[in-house]
Amino acid sequence: MRTVEYTRQGEAAQVLTLREEARRPTPGSGEVLVRMLVRPIHPGDLIGVERAMEKALRGQTGLVLQTAAGSSIGRLVSAAAVRHDLQLINLVRSTSGAEKMRTLYPSQPTIATCDDDWREQVRRHAGERGVQVVLDCVGGSMTQDLAELLADGGTLISYGHLSSGTTSLEALPLMARELTVRGVSILHWMSRTPRERAEDVAFAQDLAQNTPDLLDVAASYDLADFKAAIEHARRPAKSGTVLLTTPRTADSGHGAA
Ligand SMILES: NC(=O)c1ccc[n+]([C@@H]2O[C@H](COP(=O)([O-])OP(=O)(O)OC[C@H]3O[C@@H](n4cnc5c(N)ncnc54)[C@H](OP(=O)(O)O)[C@@H]3O)[C@@H](O)[C@H]2O)c1
Repeated sequence: MRTVEYTRQGEAAQVLTLREEARRPTPGSGEVLVRMLVRPIHPGDLIGVERAMEKALRGQTGLVLQTAAGSSIGRLVSAAAVRHDLQLINLVRSTSGAEKMRTLYPSQPTIATCDDDWREQVRRHAGERGVQVVLDCVGGSMTQDLAELLADGGTLISYGHLSSGTTSLEALPLMARELTVRGVSILHWMSRTPRERAEDVAFAQDLAQNTPDLLDVAASYDLADFKAAIEHARRPAKSGTVLLTTPRTADSGHGAA
């Protein structure tokens, strides 16, 4: 069995190590041993974000603005918005990224934040109703701009921090405009009810079967090449998910994880 492990904090490519064990782990009572052939470098997941978005919209048909829309999760959010008939504005950081999103989702306005007037462009698209929910995985100095784009009573959902730097928000507008800021993490997914989790898995399966292009694969690397895979996953303008694989025949007889 091969595992990639970390025993101390630090730069992933430096602190992660590959460990190989000849012995196959023995499942305990009520446990199963799963042979894992493919895993993503970053297990991006839509589910927690989507549920938070639904909660923030409270059944209304408000406008949602999302950052890093070209990411794996961003594109899933776009697909979910089409599926649920939600109005979504996409933000990406480059002109080329914006072109790509416009091709994929022509019905959704996509704005590049490299444009000096990106805030104005959002306001023009949002019109008088404003933005009800911001889904943000960039953070940093952009967060204050995003909060200012929210309509009174709106919600900013933070689920990642791709930018470097501190995320700061001015308290006064938060109070005066009754804005809500909340975080979302996939770590809490297991606390959902079995029925909710089954619905989430069914939704993911449906997306995978009916919109395979959405689950774009950037590249596949053998598990032992995890450092190269990490480097690839961090490349700017990378499109899709980087996978770590185990050949079907490898580890046979030892069990693979
Ligand atoms: N809360 C949770 O439970 C949870 C779970 C999974 C993932 N996440 C978060 O979700 C986010 C997306 O993950 P992913 O796996 O979908 O990512 P991904 O497919 O690797 O895509 C990364 C995207 O982020 C953009 N980006 C990178 N740095 C940026 C910056 N400084 N400013 C603006 N855009 C930037 C890239 O744009 P370019 O194309 O222009 O390079 C690319 O589109 C990450 O922040 C991750 O931590 C959260």
